[in-house]
Order: sequence, then structure tokens, then C-alpha cells
Amino acid sequence: MTVTSQPVEAFDLVIFGGTGDLAVRKLLPALFHRFLDGQIPASSRIIGIARETLDNEGYRAQLRGALVGSGDDSRLDAFLQQVGYRPLDARKPEGWSDFAELIGEQPDHVRVFYLSTSPELFVDICARLGDFGLNKGASRVVMEKPVGRDLASANQINDAVGRVFNESQTYRIDHYLGKETVQNLLALRFGNALFEPLWNAGHIDHVQITVAETLGVGHRAAYYDRAGALRDMLQNHMLQLLCMVAMEPPSSLSPDAVRDEKLKVLNSLKPIEGGQVAQYTVRGQYRAGVAEGTSVPGYLDELGDSKSNTETFVALKAEIGNWRWAGVPFYLRTGKRLPHRVSEIVVAFKPVPHSIFGADTGPLAQNRLVLRLQPDEGVKLWLTIKHPGPGGLRLRHVPLDMSFAEAFGVQQRDAYERLLLDVVRGNPTLFMRRDEVEAAWRWADPILDAWAAGGESPRPYAAGSWGPSAAVALIERDGRTWNEDSD
Ligand code: BG6
Repeated sequence: MTVTSQPVEAFDLVIFGGTGDLAVRKLLPALFHRFLDGQIPASSRIIGIARETLDNEGYRAQLRGALVGSGDDSRLDAFLQQVGYRPLDARKPEGWSDFAELIGEQPDHVRVFYLSTSPELFVDICARLGDFGLNKGASRVVMEKPVGRDLASANQINDAVGRVFNESQTYRIDHYLGKETVQNLLALRFGNALFEPLWNAGHIDHVQITVAETLGVGHRAAYYDRAGALRDMLQNHMLQLLCMVAMEPPSSLSPDAVRDEKLKVLNSLKPIEGGQVAQYTVRGQYRAGVAEGTSVPGYLDELGDSKSNTETFVALKAEIGNWRWAGVPFYLRTGKRLPHRVSEIVVAFKPVPHSIFGADTGPLAQNRLVLRLQPDEGVKLWLTIKHPGPGGLRLRHVPLDMSFAEAFGVQQRDAYERLLLDVVRGNPTLFMRRDEVEAAWRWADPILDAWAAGGESPRPYAAGSWGPSAAVALIERDGRTWNEDSD
């Protein structure tokens, strides 16, 4: 099958926070790759906005340093010609009217305003965009997660942004939804007759979702310390993964059909409140250690604040209160400075009800379906088979293993490439609707409240380890183990 890139119409993309980590490390490289594939029309403009006093050339020089080596360098200058810069401060009026003039009044022209700043600025930026009428016609706003730091602040932001942009113009991005494997969950679950009959509490023992990172917080410490692992990763990325595993089949792939089903899952999550929080959740914070062969400092040293109580690791046991999932635990864990970079979803099936094999054939292990999001995207289905050859019936647990890169020879694309063009095309299927964000906070808030009320420090773990031992105890208490294949 030939793969073709679908053309998109010319657009303006304005990135607030244009000199920030996300813009430079993710958004611009994603746009450069789409440019190389011929998907950025020549009349499109990409405009970085930040407070720094820079001109177009200064900004391009910064980006050149970041982009060189990430694609065909000989076309980098041509790409950068479509990129410009404007210094603007969301909290000061200067420069906004010139900016509005630059963008111009063409209501049918797609204008995307990407808010890659701290959430406290979303409201001010949107208010100014509204003042200059830049919210009209085919204008769209993209909000980076986390939207707020709890339900109340998320509501404030959503209300304020909602006064300027209507819901259909608002794209709340969660880049995990743009990852190939997450999309593949839809294909696997709803494109095969094989799994769906087994996809329920009758056949599934438990689900594990791990998002492990080797990096520390580094220069993002100031942002990260106000967020922590639960707000940064779990309330959004990991709950979205959980939704994709647990949702009922939507009637179609239309944006609202998918999002309605995800919302039902979020609303069915059993609350973890009060005394349950200590039982079902584990928070950790990394100390100095050896990560990938190198000695690295602890979180508090990186931050330069020995008192921070922010968690860099969280593990928890969630349950979904509905017929399909009653009694099936979903174990989630995520952390910085873990031994490997690995993100995966493990669906562990129930053991066979009765073994016909003798003790000398080897143990009967559970079937597991492992969906790997990174580092190499793919699917593994663990099966029990007979070891080939003579020597009696010896059972082995082996994976049917498919790496997408190997199977299709397709280079892995960053999730932002797909999502940015989805915004330009006006397709919100892979973006979070307001009610989803609210439902996720409604579930996360009592956990955050109980942690704050308890005042306990997160449990220390050495950089390069799998987090505090309490995270292992969390799952082992139930007679289960974290997927060792990822260790
Ligand atoms: C971001 C978080 O949303 O996702 C970061 O803010 C995290 O802390 C990142 O490192 C992980 O994304 P990925 O695609 O590298 O797994």
C-alpha cells in the first residue's frame, strides 16, 4: 500500500512560548518533518512568540541549532524562511496591535494559536486574542497540558478561554493520544474480532500501565516542582491510555463518539479518597544514583531546594466501577530517573481454569498482551507453547513480537506531527474535551488533597532504580508483579 501525506490548506501557526523547551524540542522539529514531507504549504507561516527581545533572524539562529541533524539539513533554511518571531508579553499591551496586523483579518484562513506557556498565562493570552478579534472564523487555540492544577483552576481557565474561543475551536492536547501505539489500540481492539470477546473482567486479570523515563527534571525543575508526577503525567497521559484500553466500542471514530466513551470511563473510576490514598498510592522522589551508567544528582539538588515535597514517581491502583471492569485492577506507575525509558500497556489475562499438564512441564504463565509505546513501538502477545523437539512435553512462554518499525519499515514519527496537523485540519478526535479534563481532575483531586493533608514526604528512591519498594509492594500484595519484561 502506498502511503501518501494528505495535503492541508495554508495556515498560520502562532506558538506562545516559542523559545521554550516544548517549542524548540518538539513542536518545531515536528513541523520541520512535516515540511520535509511536503505538508506545509509554502504560504503558511509559523510565528514564535515569547518575551525575549529577538528578531526573525535571531530566532531562526536559535532554532537552527536545535534542528540541525534532525532531518535533511539542506532544506532547513527553506523551512526557517517560513518561521518568524515576535516579542510579546501577555501581561503588557505593547506590541499586540502590531501582532494583530501581522496576523491580519482573514476569517477563513486557518489560524492556530498554540499555548505552550505556563497555564497561568492562558487566560491573559486568550483575552488579548479576543480583544483583537483573532478568535474569529477558522481560528483555533491549542492548550498544552496540564490544564490547571486541580479542578477549580482548570474550570477557571476553561471558563476564561471559553469566553473567547468556543469548544469546537479549543484543542486540549495530550500528545500521548498521538502516539502510534495508542491509535493502534483502536485498530487492535476494534479491527479484530479476536480480542473484544475477551476484553472484560471475565477474562482479564489486571492491566498495568508503565511510563518510565530515564531523564531527571533538569532545566524544567521550576515548572516540574509545581506539578509533580501526578499532575504532569498521570492525570492526563496515563488516564488517557487507561481510557483507550477500557472504553466501550464507540459507534464510529467521530470526535464525540470516541470522547463520549472515554468520558464514561473517567466518570466510572472509583474515587480514591481519605484513608484509601495511603493504601492505593505510592509517591516517590529520586535521590542521587547511577542512571544509564552515569552518576546523577538527586531531585532536591537539581532543584536547589532541600525541602521540596514534590513527587517524581507515582504508582497507584485504580479501579473502574462498571460491569466490564468490575474487580479488575489497573496498576499505573510513572517516574523520572528510572532504569529504562519504556512506556507500555500490559493486559494480563486470567490463567487457564485447569491445567492438564504435569508438574514437570513447567509453570503455566498468564497470557499477556503488551502494547509498547516506546522506545520501539510494537505489540507482543505472550503465549504458552511446547518447546520444539524431543525430550517430553516442556512448556515455554514466548512472545509473538512485532516491532512496527521492523514490520513496516516506517520511521517512527513524533506524536506532535500528527496532532499539529489534526489541529490545522480541524479534527479534534485525539484531543481532550473539557468534560474529560474535568472528570480527570475530579478523580485526581482527592488524591492530591490527601497527600497535602498528610504532609508526608515522598519516599526516596535511588536514581536508576524502579522507584520506592512500596511500589513493588503495592502490586505484590495482590499476588501480582510488574511486568518484568520491561526491567
Ligand atoms: C510531558 C511531560 O507531557 O511528557 C514530561 O510534561 C515528560 O515531564 C513527557 O517527560 C514524556 O513524553 P514522551 O513522549 O517523551 O514519553
